[in-house]
Amino acid sequence: MATGTEPHTDTGVRGASRAAIAPRHLRTDRWWLAPAATAGGLLAFIVYSTWRAFANSDYYAAPYVSPFYSPCLAENCAPMKGGPNWEIFGSWWGLSPALLILIFPLGFRLTCYYYRKAYYRGFWASPPACAVAEPHAKYTGETRFPLILQNMHRYFFYAALPVAGILTYDTVLAFRDETYAWGHMGLGTLVFLVNIGLIWAYTLSCHSCRHIIGGRLRHFSKHPVRYRLWGLVGKLNDRHMLLAWSSLISVALADFYVYLLATGAFEDPRFF
Ligand code: FES
Repeated sequence: MATGTEPHTDTGVRGASRAAIAPRHLRTDRWWLAPAATAGGLLAFIVYSTWRAFANSDYYAAPYVSPFYSPCLAENCAPMKGGPNWEIFGSWWGLSPALLILIFPLGFRLTCYYYRKAYYRGFWASPPACAVAEPHAKYTGETRFPLILQNMHRYFFYAALPVAGILTYDTVLAFRDETYAWGHMGLGTLVFLVNIGLIWAYTLSCHSCRHIIGGRLRHFSKHPVRYRLWGLVGKLNDRHMLLAWSSLISVALADFYVYLLATGAFEDPRFF
């Protein structure tokens, strides 16, 4: 019996049930621009974050710690006064401590509904764009390994919450100066504030978050608080793509800012 989830083997313009039209698609606009820009943007982030994650250096400049390295879970972490630095992984861990923590935000973004669409289109041309047939002869969707693991997104959402909480804590610590005295503010504090605002907005705009807050209810009228929260999260969810990109750029910029300070290439301008 057909369940509706069987893999399609007659996809695209080659499908037996499709009209016999010779061109691969009928679009006349520059439809390739969006997937090409998406692939370029994602590739740039992948190259930058891979370099920084494996660098294992220049990720702390008091009072700022790079979001790529927080919380620091290995013994080989740079000493960060007051920062989240738990040596859960002992001295046997010789690689960059960023690799221990980045798995969570990476998994969250990799399985995100928006990013899935973005990299399926940008890298796999599956499909390249609306109304442009994909080049693959067979389509199994996300019903097979490894793509069935995309279903883990909701669990990565739960993991992303404490990570965002810890980055919030780092932002509070950024209200110190380089001598760790409280009540100060530098350009880095602003960079961290913008970044954490975007990280939270992206995290809460998650489709899984929206479902957790407002899903599986029979009557919204009996759950006014959840209904209100669902409406707020829905407004963020409308901008999920924008938040996905802006938080991706802001987290890279926050890391790069710390890198510039740590290498001595730049001095943090202080406001007070
Ligand atoms: Fe994008 Fe959950 S759907 S973060």
